[in-house]
Amino acid sequence: MEEQLNELKQIMQSSSPKTRTQGDHKTRIIAITSGKGGVGKTNIAVNMAIAYAQLGKKVILIDGDLGMANVNVLLNVVPKYNLLQVINKQKTMQEIILDTEFGIKFIAGANGFSKIANLSVAELEYFANQFSSLGNADIIIIDTGAGIANNVLQFVAAADEVYVVTTPEPTAITDAYGIIKIITTEIVDREINIQLLVNRVHSADEGKRISDRIINIVGQFLNYKVNYIGFIYEDPVIQASVIRQKPFIVINPTSKPAVCVKHIVGRIEKTDVANNEGVSSFLKKFLGFKKA
Ligand SMILES: Nc1ncnc2c1ncn2[C@@H]1O[C@H](COP(=O)(O)OP(=O)(O)OP(=O)(O)O)[C@@H](O)[C@H]1O
Ligand SMILES: [Mg+2]
Repeated sequence: MEEQLNELKQIMQSSSPKTRTQGDHKTRIIAITSGKGGVGKTNIAVNMAIAYAQLGKKVILIDGDLGMANVNVLLNVVPKYNLLQVINKQKTMQEIILDTEFGIKFIAGANGFSKIANLSVAELEYFANQFSSLGNADIIIIDTGAGIANNVLQFVAAADEVYVVTTPEPTAITDAYGIIKIITTEIVDREINIQLLVNRVHSADEGKRISDRIINIVGQFLNYKVNYIGFIYEDPVIQASVIRQKPFIVINPTSKPAVCVKHIVGRIEKTDVANNEGVSSFLKKFLGFKKA
């Protein structure tokens, strides 16, 4: 891996000026994750991506849940290709990116993503160049799987910001703490910007109370500072939208969850992106990932 990373650095330095310019565009890269499964990550990732696009931004949503890909179900699209075809040099990145009717672009993840660790220099160069083309986007949102699988940590380690989703359920809270503990102890050499998002609350107070509790224990036991980015109301509009396979922000833009998502996106837009390093840096961190 060490050797591969050095090779990649050289590749990134020697890539064509066009690729370099695209790579230098400061694309913001956000990973959405959780400790417990089923807390609403995919719904949040999809609707946040659309809310961003509604602000006039170029958005790419990547399904990084390599086991149980769900984004395509919520968007009601059937991806023909995924990242594996790019890794295998069978397709270009532009060929696998799907346009959607919701103004966002979508990339399906690939189960064989771990194969990337064994690529030859030429294959790696191809992949790096293809990946650099994503630097045209303003924001890339990655929906990860739940829990501590290596590939989840790898996305988290490479992203500029990580949104940890929890619900008020005690098990979700415990698991949110658990994943934050793993992120802060197993990802080496990096200050990770972690934001908490509390889903399925019945009041703003409840969201604040849950996040305060997690922020306090993380501060006390892990000596780490996480921030609270906001909450989303429990609302049947979400189940209904999943069944209709249309994002709730589209079919019900004035519903409580839709308003919450827009608030959150507004707050993210206002936050500092000083450590936002773009796609080439993402790729370096992604390929150079090693656990502590
Ligand atoms: N705010 C909410 N109000 C009501 N129901 C919700 C809310 N958020 C999520 N749900 C319900 O939870 C289900 C699971 O959501 P989702 O698939 O987004 O979770 P996930 O965290 O991505 O799950 P996984 O860990 O399996 O990937 C939704 O289909 C919906 O029925
Ligand atoms: Mg999901």
